[in-house]
Amino acid sequence: MSLVDQIRAKAKMNPKTVVLPESYDERMLFAAQQVMEQGLAKIVILGNKTEVQNIATAKGINLSGVEILEPATAPKLAAYVDSLVELRKSKGLTREEAEKLLTAKDNLYFAGMMVREGDADGEVAGATGTTGDVLRAAFQTVGTAPGIKTVSSFFLMITKTPSFGENGILLFADCAVNPNPDAQALAEIAVATARNCKSFLDVPARVAMLSFSTKGSASHPDADKVLKALEIAKGIDPMMQIDGELQADAALLPKVGEKKAPGSTVAGKANVLIFPDLDAGNIAYKLVERVAGAEAVGPIIQGLAKPVNDLSRGCSVEDIVNVVAITAVQAQG
Ligand code: ACO
Repeated sequence: MSLVDQIRAKAKMNPKTVVLPESYDERMLFAAQQVMEQGLAKIVILGNKTEVQNIATAKGINLSGVEILEPATAPKLAAYVDSLVELRKSKGLTREEAEKLLTAKDNLYFAGMMVREGDADGEVAGATGTTGDVLRAAFQTVGTAPGIKTVSSFFLMITKTPSFGENGILLFADCAVNPNPDAQALAEIAVATARNCKSFLDVPARVAMLSFSTKGSASHPDADKVLKALEIAKGIDPMMQIDGELQADAALLPKVGEKKAPGSTVAGKANVLIFPDLDAGNIAYKLVERVAGAEAVGPIIQGLAKPVNDLSRGCSVEDIVNVVAITAVQAQG
């Protein structure tokens, strides 16, 4: 069974409620139908009931079993306004501003408050909204998990080379959120990704903190940042198998690892690659996907108190269904 099929099977075992705010995009409605038919999750769609039903009828989409909720007339709107004002009081958010955010056409704040308040277990958006729009609304409503300051993301990279990582599967982070993480943020990214390695692949992480330098081969402040992150990460989770700074070949190839980082428990067999910044991470995942023909599942957002995931605006219906299944699995804990 492929990894994606395994994730779908896991989602089905304990169906969670996932809210889809972007009802005006027909791909979301097609995806909602498929998710319901396959029993992957329960779906709440945000939008005007008549408008949503009209799109569904015109496109031949069956939304039976899907709950359609209109934020402007929702019974919990007033309670969400109160909560959002309280959450953003240090920023001086007024009731009028909160109500405007919660009834905005993109429905992102309303969906976030549903997740925060437990009226949905997770959210999937980003078919029309930008990554920035989706994440900012999630930061302000759902917030970060206890003890975590940095929300980040990872990709499950399913490569065609079984000798890499875990039977060809690697976790790459952060490839989508933090443009310039400092050492503390980089350490949090490593710890969060290691935990997700365990929950998605069911194996302990072997985390490589990547750099253009291996074990002092170059001397530069950028390599120093990676070393500092390594020490912080070890402090957060002393049991984690983690090493750095390592070049990508030393992380992945046993012969190169033995030569450049002798005695390392990670070099040559890393299954989690932590990139020093977003330029490196984003470029790397796209190159591995396009040039090496790997399947890139993600970005999967980590570090939020409850799951919210961001789609690429070019996503297909199948991508949305997969991200809903991933979100449901994250919600299962
Ligand atoms: N974790 C937690 N909170 C954060 C994070 C984070 N990583 N980043 C920002 N915040 C919070 C800030 O603390 C601040 O909170 P406050 O309002 O309570 O004070 C708020 O968010 C705004 O902070 P800014 O620094 O102004 O962040 P901004 O809103 O400019 O942007 C964002 C945040 C959207 C994540 C930005 O860093 C970004 O655009 N990242 C790149 C996204 C992207 O384009 N990725 C590549 C494409 S995706 C792909 O290829 C698959």
